[in-house]
Amino acid sequence: MKMLVTGGAGFIGTNFIKYILKKYPYYAVINYDKLTYAGNLENLKDLETHPNYSFVRGDILNTELLDYIMKGVDVVVHFAAESHVDRSIMEADVFVLTNVVGTFSVLEAAKKNNVKRFHHISTDEVFGSLGAEGLFHEDTPYDPRSPYASSKAASDHLVRAYYHTHGLPITVSNCSNNYGPYQFPEKLIPLFVTNLIEGKKVPLYGDGKNVRDWVHVSDHNEAVDLIIHEGKVGETYCIGAQSERTNRQITDLILAKMGVGEEMVEYVEDRKGHDRRYAIRPYKIMAELGWKPRVSFEEGMEQTINWYRENQDWWKKVKSGEYLEYYEKQYGRKNVVVVQKNMENNEKNSGIEI
Ligand code: NAD
Ligand code: TYD
Repeated sequence: MKMLVTGGAGFIGTNFIKYILKKYPYYAVINYDKLTYAGNLENLKDLETHPNYSFVRGDILNTELLDYIMKGVDVVVHFAAESHVDRSIMEADVFVLTNVVGTFSVLEAAKKNNVKRFHHISTDEVFGSLGAEGLFHEDTPYDPRSPYASSKAASDHLVRAYYHTHGLPITVSNCSNNYGPYQFPEKLIPLFVTNLIEGKKVPLYGDGKNVRDWVHVSDHNEAVDLIIHEGKVGETYCIGAQSERTNRQITDLILAKMGVGEEMVEYVEDRKGHDRRYAIRPYKIMAELGWKPRVSFEEGMEQTINWYRENQDWWKKVKSGEYLEYYEKQYGRKNVVVVQKNMENNEKNSGIEI
């Protein structure tokens, strides 16, 4: 088995490659990554001497290079993307280029090389925003609301079009919010944990009651492994651990684990177009492929917080240079909205209310 992983130096890709080469050490894995601000080869240092791992620095927009690298590849697992909603609000150009045009380019190379499977990694954000009720599932109509989500939605459509039009053997997965080691500290959980380690406050958007459905990255990767090996060509699978939490609940959990109090929370101006709630109904992958999440949110958070405590060199290097410019742009000018009511009623407000 020769597998090409795009975006393998990012958060989920890193964890995926480590997982695959541990489970199938005889697979040949090529990591194709441009190494944007989110890609970090240090993540994969322990694999440098692995006989079946190789790295190619390349942009997914470079179809010629992809075509060359894809010779003899059986399976493509396409993670490469721009992945942060706040950055897509600031500047969407690169999201359209990488996520839409880049996916088109990977599809073209895959078609030319007759790959046996093209698995596209997508997100539940393509479905839009839920109210208090309801769950996203494979038949939920698309309704993306951020530039990030719409660029991922467009890429999903392209992938399915290559199946219907050209017979490319594709599968798609739409997964909920991931957390775990190696996540770039611009995303909620690593940002809050690392800020607190540095003695900085955590910026909670709006009223803190937006809901996300969290899955540990290792459970996501097991699901992808099952889909690649046993999933039906042309099908989509929704992945989620049925682990909904408000951002306030997550903040409280992190504060408690870090031994600090409310004085470290800063309510800031809300994200533009902030989706209220995401939640996945994962019954198809459970029933058809026997997937189920293994890591409970509490256990996963404990491990993740410990990982960031023990790997300060990793994120301190990452939280420098370009990151500081981004942080200043994103949070520097935000008005601090002190939602006194919420602070006084933390207990009452920790439930999921929309
Ligand atoms: P990430 O931002 O941590 O990593 C993205 C990787 O892609 C980086 O290594 C980067 O260098 C690489 N990349 C970016 N542009 C590239 C280009 N033009 N050419 C080649 N490589 C390029 O992202 P992540 O959180 O690991 O997400 C991976 C995938 O999973 C994305 O497709 C994302 O949409 C999807 N996803 C993420 C989540 C989540 O919670 N993080 C949830 C569901 C789906
Ligand atoms: P994020 O990790 O950016 O993932 P996504 O937007 O893809 O779901 O954000 C998760 C939730 O946390 C989302 O509701 C926005 C919120 N959030 C904050 O309150 N403060 C922050 O600084 C960040 C980055 C996110």
